[in-house]
Amino acid sequence: MSEEPMSDDPTKFYTGLVAEAYSALVSMPSDPAPYAEFVRAAGGTALELACGDGTPMLDLIADGLEVEGLDSSADMLERCRARAKAEGLDVTLHLGDMANFDLGRLFGSIFIAGPSITLLPDDATVGQCLSSVMSHCQPGAPVMIPFWIPAPPGETPPPPRSAASPEPDGGELRLTTVSVDYDAAACNQTSVLRYERLRQGEVVESVERPWEIHWLAPETVVDLAAAAGFTDITTLDLNDSPATADSMLFTLRATAPS
Ligand SMILES: C[S@@+](CC[C@H](N)C(=O)[O-])C[C@H]1O[C@@H](n2cnc3c(N)ncnc32)[C@H](O)[C@@H]1O
Repeated sequence: MSEEPMSDDPTKFYTGLVAEAYSALVSMPSDPAPYAEFVRAAGGTALELACGDGTPMLDLIADGLEVEGLDSSADMLERCRARAKAEGLDVTLHLGDMANFDLGRLFGSIFIAGPSITLLPDDATVGQCLSSVMSHCQPGAPVMIPFWIPAPPGETPPPPRSAASPEPDGGELRLTTVSVDYDAAACNQTSVLRYERLRQGEVVESVERPWEIHWLAPETVVDLAAAAGFTDITTLDLNDSPATADSMLFTLRATAPS
């Protein structure tokens, strides 16, 4: 069996076996509909940050929308390219850090599909991300960025999840939560996740990685968006009501000045 040493470099999380397993084992795949509606209403070319292996970006492109993607994982972008090719779609992808990027052009709208912004390590880095987003917005461009505040972990870890590998003869993939360290005061959670490949019930490959997230209260998000120069700033919960400190999922909506 092959095993790798555990790295705490967050940019190394979505690589190798984890990138292969991502779409097969994802717990909540992004629904393309709200993002399609957002991009269509804004017009022009959109940018999706943390686009990963192309969900939901490729659905939007297949629907005739113009969307470019940025992600910090070359492995996830490679998988996205392969999916696009298999589906006969043209895709423009950028390898980069959503907290600090310079693509040399402006976009009609910018979004993240799902709360991947919680992968940034602290409030200041989220602020840098919003500044980078602002510097890529055409005048009046809207942004749509979901945030997540996780509940404290339960007494027992979630059960392992298994799925067939998307690779031909890739065997079965299994994801196990090994431990969860939840720090309510610092708004940080580190989960050690084990990804495994099994063949005929035997583990033949195994990696354990720390999955680190940092969350922000809605009012902090509003302050950071204002500091980045956005206007018309709102944070809305799943019922489209103003988000509160109890909203586990909420979305930042804001506009670049005209
Ligand atoms: C949970 S996946 C979401 C992928 C995709 N949006 C989806 O819904 O399937 C998170 C993605 O964020 C990317 N990511 C993590 N940190 C990043 C950063 N600082 N800059 C750009 N991408 C990042 C990872 O490489 C990964 O592809």
